[in-house]
Amino acid sequence: MKDFVEAARAVLRDNDRGGYTVPTRGLYPYQWNWDAAFCALGWITFDEPRAWRELERLLEGQWPDGLVPHIVFHAPSDTYFPGPDVWRTPHVPATSGITQPAVLASAARLCLERARDKVAAEDHLAALYPKILAWHRWWIAARDPERNGLVGMLHPWESGMDNSPAWDAPFARVSPTPTSAIRRKDLGHVDAAMRPSEDFYKRVIALIDLYASLGWQPERMWAKTPFKVADVALNAILHRANRDLLALGRRFGTHVEQAEIAARLDITAPAIDRLWNATAGIYQPRDLMTGERIEARTSAGLLPLWAEVVDTGKLRALSATLERWAKRARFLVPSTAPDDPCFEPKRYWRGPIWGIVNMMIAEGLAATGAQEPARRIKADTAYLMNKNGFCEYFDPLTGDGLGGGHFSWTAAVALYWNLRDELRVEAPAS
Ligand code: DGY
Repeated sequence: MKDFVEAARAVLRDNDRGGYTVPTRGLYPYQWNWDAAFCALGWITFDEPRAWRELERLLEGQWPDGLVPHIVFHAPSDTYFPGPDVWRTPHVPATSGITQPAVLASAARLCLERARDKVAAEDHLAALYPKILAWHRWWIAARDPERNGLVGMLHPWESGMDNSPAWDAPFARVSPTPTSAIRRKDLGHVDAAMRPSEDFYKRVIALIDLYASLGWQPERMWAKTPFKVADVALNAILHRANRDLLALGRRFGTHVEQAEIAARLDITAPAIDRLWNATAGIYQPRDLMTGERIEARTSAGLLPLWAEVVDTGKLRALSATLERWAKRARFLVPSTAPDDPCFEPKRYWRGPIWGIVNMMIAEGLAATGAQEPARRIKADTAYLMNKNGFCEYFDPLTGDGLGGGHFSWTAAVALYWNLRDELRVEAPAS
């Protein structure tokens, strides 16, 4: 790629719709929650006011109970399904009724660190902080009502890793919608072989219909849902976000709030630890409907690294797991273990590499002391983006760029993570 940085900036500018960034044109025409957090990290490297605006526009979608929804439908579009007419939530602007991984507090803190204009940054953060705190309180009230220390997701889309094999068994318990109301638009943008199945969408809509019939009230949803999973990534990202919120709280909050966040962290760190599976050498989610471990081996199981809750023994085991994966995949980090029967190198969250996940894993490895695998992951990510463009995801066997092109969070990772400095002429050794 000729000018890597300029090309990455152009992706964000092209996907800018006036203070918010669509993930990519057509396929995703609204503002998504965790996409927005990563986009802000991209914007902060060259347009600081725009980075703050991204976070502020996301919070325009916040509900009175604190929920920050996974989609804010800022402007109408006919290129996406399911739109606001399917969600039927009681909010203006229209939003979905579920959430997504809580990267927001971390993005806000990292933007503050990176910002040159600290005065402006602090002004923005003073207003953002109480709203983010309200969202973190919502997570406990709505998604950990029994106060076990782990939040449960009530829809596969809340994990952000929509069709991960980790949800296959629990999602099989959701009856597919009996109606023919599936009007998929994604297949008009991307090859069906790279997207979730038809059956997956029928269950997605069945859950949306159920929750709409419950008035989107969290306590009723928690009681009536057939799908409830304590995901590793969701909990690790939230733990990390609480650490970042605590840091923001020292500057913008009260002592009482700081104590409240610190108390939550004391509960969530050991709760995440209990998701460790020593035999598999990876963290694994728990099915909250049955209480059983889900024996999935996915990149989500590495994300406690991002939360910095991994001790030396587990760090060694996770590094060994990555080494095993690297023997089968040419590039790291596949979203599903490449020797797993569920591994599909081109299908969305069932095998492909995602830039945002690579950044969280590698930053966590580096912070925990495993520099070598961190360097390898960073170099692979830079190589893939430089060779194949800022695609939504990449095939870990061939490196092919997949899914939507001109993808905002991929470009944002390239910018925030300074991937230009990693570029090499040669392909990484297989
Ligand atoms: C989609 O529509 O595929 C999104 O990932 C859901 O948020």
